[in-house]
Amino acid sequence: MKPMILNHPMIEHKISILRNEKTSTKEFRELISEIAMILCYEALKDASIYEYDVKTPITETKGLRVNENDYAFVPILRAGMGMVDGVLQVMPNAKIGHIGLFRNEETLEPVEYYCKLPKNIEKKTVILLDPMLATGGSGSAAITMLKKRGVKKIKFLSIISAPVGLKKIESDHPDVEIYTAKCDEKLNDNGYIVPGLGDAGDRIYGTK
Ligand code: PRP
Ligand code: URA
Repeated sequence: MKPMILNHPMIEHKISILRNEKTSTKEFRELISEIAMILCYEALKDASIYEYDVKTPITETKGLRVNENDYAFVPILRAGMGMVDGVLQVMPNAKIGHIGLFRNEETLEPVEYYCKLPKNIEKKTVILLDPMLATGGSGSAAITMLKKRGVKKIKFLSIISAPVGLKKIESDHPDVEIYTAKCDEKLNDNGYIVPGLGDAGDRIYGTK
């Protein structure tokens, strides 16, 4: 499925601040969270809505609601956790699962270390969160882990993607919808996105 790329001057503005190596940890976290929130609104454009009765101070009318129980957010640890606050602003009652994966720095292959998902995950739409889609190895492996546990509908939210990573998800998992704020130029020899923003986990947690 063709990725949805946010195309907006304010997103360019905010991503440029994320790219700047001098941006503080606080501002970096806030912007990751804010862009995640916007991506989440986009991803939920097709959410089913149900009518219910509402009494305003003036009259009776019909309200509309989304069943939050139909959704789960699943961040890929660690960097994906940086997006959770933002998406919870959109849907505060969604359940949250966690997938632990890291990239082996030499082979760039994903290594799985944790998976804890909400009950009845197979009945929910999963919104998978990871700020960086580089080779696509981690994203693709996380989607496979979800599918093995019966998940049928997955939407993947990333802040910055590389063309090769987008292609990998599209070819390994053509049924998965991708929402990304920006598609960058390429990967460097170490598998980092260029121009990118560096190591997202290290910048969110201040570990380097
Ligand atoms: C980063 C990022 C993705 C992965 C992307 O995580 O958050 O999960 O790399 O790279 P890929 O598309 O080539 O797989 P990392 O492995 O650095 O772990 P961390 O989140 O714990 O820092
Ligand atoms: N993971 C990151 O955190 N940054 C990149 O550029 C690539 C993978």
